[in-house]
Amino acid sequence: MRFFSVYDVIFHTANMKGHTEKEIYDFLRQFKIRKKDIEEYKMSGVIPSDPKIIEGILSYLGMSLVELELTLGRIPTGYEDNFFTKAKEIAKLISTKKSESKEIENVYEQPFFSTSLGELYNGNCIELLKQVPDNSVDCVFADPPFNLNKEYDTGVNDKLMYSEYINWCIKWLDECVRVLKPGGSLFIYNIPKWHTYLSNYLDQKLNFWSWIAVDMKSGLPIANRLYPAHYSLLYYVKGAKPKTFNNQRMPLQTCRHCGGEIKDYGGYKSKMNPKGVNVSDVWNDIYPVRHSSSKNRKFNELPVKLLDRIISMSTNENDVILDPFGGSGTTFAVSELLNRKWIGFELGNCEIIKERLTNKEKDKKLLEKVYEEKNKLFPSKVAELRKANGFWLSEDFIEDNNNNEDNMIDNGEGFNQLTLSLSKND
Ligand SMILES: C[S@@+](CC[C@H](N)C(=O)[O-])C[C@H]1O[C@@H](n2cnc3c(N)ncnc32)[C@H](O)[C@@H]1O
Repeated sequence: MRFFSVYDVIFHTANMKGHTEKEIYDFLRQFKIRKKDIEEYKMSGVIPSDPKIIEGILSYLGMSLVELELTLGRIPTGYEDNFFTKAKEIAKLISTKKSESKEIENVYEQPFFSTSLGELYNGNCIELLKQVPDNSVDCVFADPPFNLNKEYDTGVNDKLMYSEYINWCIKWLDECVRVLKPGGSLFIYNIPKWHTYLSNYLDQKLNFWSWIAVDMKSGLPIANRLYPAHYSLLYYVKGAKPKTFNNQRMPLQTCRHCGGEIKDYGGYKSKMNPKGVNVSDVWNDIYPVRHSSSKNRKFNELPVKLLDRIISMSTNENDVILDPFGGSGTTFAVSELLNRKWIGFELGNCEIIKERLTNKEKDKKLLEKVYEEKNKLFPSKVAELRKANGFWLSEDFIEDNNNNEDNMIDNGEGFNQLTLSLSKND
């Protein structure tokens, strides 16, 4: 499958006609269409709604609107029923003899670096993914470049046209879907705009599980737009349901100064699980890696807390995690500390990852900090503050909780294996 934009169709047609860019715009000028009116469609899949603009474009293409919609790979508006009933004829019309597929040469790359748990390969993930057998990975986490015109040391083009970017994503996504085991989980981290398209595509391959909003204010407000304050973490599953889902818990939100709960839980206090509240699909407790002492490189580094949550939720010890866009290696560092196997790819500098995995002390400390709060209704400092100010603590209801295990608001088992794997790895 491929995505096309109106911009692509115009330039594809120009190519067939042997027209230069100037000749396209000279033609469109008769319809009072300017270059900037067309360039707008570089970054979106929209069909122009302005009658003058669409008239000019269709005239240049020599097409009807129905033909343009078909060219874009869509079912033309108003023709949905016909499309459905005539699918056989349409298939016959567009069928061609499949060209003999060339035998793909299996060139197996050597890892750039490996540990007892994982292997890192330096190269293009689309090529490297081909080395990974079908149905062999328990979880894929991908944090690709967001096409926001950022600079990468690899010279990655981060300013592709809408359709180029989506089609590139589809290439690695197809491979990720293939390598995922039945019941395995796929997570993609990106900006909401791209996820509206990717989610649409993935809906045809996997089962939608969640759209997680990761609250992260990393930039400045943008004129004429709502201030973008979240990234989207898409969560899909291969098959009907995830083979592993470990409930994740976080502390109750309390006031920094007095320790009192922010929301009133009224009569439900006694039913609170002492291991914390269930994590929802809005994650507002993840903070960007800003401090230079925690950073492994200048840009694009996700916090270990985010990866800990994803990996702990969707895998068990010894499961295999794959990350096609290694970056600074956060996924691999957390996998190591949680005793998961991993496979990683990175097109750019892999030395940073090697260094990070060779000396795990910094990540270990960061993760220990995460676990000070994880699976606790009140982390110890908060509990002390609450005690001093006369607020209730889980112990106050221990009797009730013991008698009432089934009635607790969320009584799933907590998950705390960090200490276990840390001591094993050291
Ligand atoms: C957003 S960063 C990932 C950051 C990472 N999650 C972390 O926490 O450090 C994306 C990375 O993908 C790499 N990259 C871009 N295109 C790639 C490709 N085709 N194959 C492998 N890596 C690629 C870039 O060099 C960059 O380091």
